[in-house]
Amino acid sequence: MSERTAVYPGSFDPIHNGHLDLIERCRPMYDRLVVAVLRNEAKRALFSVDERLEIIRELVGERRGCVVEVESFSGLLVDFMDEVGARIVVRGLRAVTDFEYEFQMAMMNRRLNPRVETVFMAPKEEYNYLSSSLVKEVFSLGGDLTGLVPDPVLARLRRHLEPHASKAARRAE
Ligand code: PNS
Repeated sequence: MSERTAVYPGSFDPIHNGHLDLIERCRPMYDRLVVAVLRNEAKRALFSVDERLEIIRELVGERRGCVVEVESFSGLLVDFMDEVGARIVVRGLRAVTDFEYEFQMAMMNRRLNPRVETVFMAPKEEYNYLSSSLVKEVFSLGGDLTGLVPDPVLARLRRHLEPHASKAARRAE
C-alpha cells in the first residue's frame, strides 16, 4: 500500500489549540502529515517563520503511527506538495464564513493540479471561533487565553507582546 501523505498548510502565526486539535485528528487518517508554514514576506507576522517552526516542532513531538513533519514553503502550495509527494491538502473549517475563502483556494489548487484534493475538517466545537489574529488581539488587550493556546505559545506571546501591552497600559493611565 502506498504511503498516505497529507499537507496541512497555513500561516500559524501563532499555532493555537484549534490547529493542534486538527493535527491530532489527522494522525489516525494518514501515514505522514506535513505541517507547512507559509513564508510570506508580504504579510506582517508577529512570529518569524523559524520561530513558528520551532514552536510547532516542540508541540507535535514523536508519537507512534502518523509521522508529523514541520516544514516551511514559499511559492505555490501545489508545487510544495509535489516536492513532498502529497496529493491531499487538509484545511480546517470553523464556520460558514470560512467556506468561501476555503472553497476558492481548493478550486484554484485543483485547477493548478487536478490530482490535488482538499479535505476539510471541523475542529472541536470549543475552538470554532478561535483564530491566530484573535489570539494576538486578546493577549495584547490582557484577555485570558487559558485553554486556547499551548504554554509555549503563551510564553512567546509574553516575550513579544507584553512590553508593548504594558507601554499601552501606561499611556492609558
Ligand atoms: O493560515 P492561512 O493564512 O489561512 O493559510 C493560507 C495558505 C498558506 C494555505 C494559502 O495562502 C496558500 O496556500 N498560499 C500559498 C500560495 C498559493 O499556492 N496560492 C494559490 C492557491 S490559493
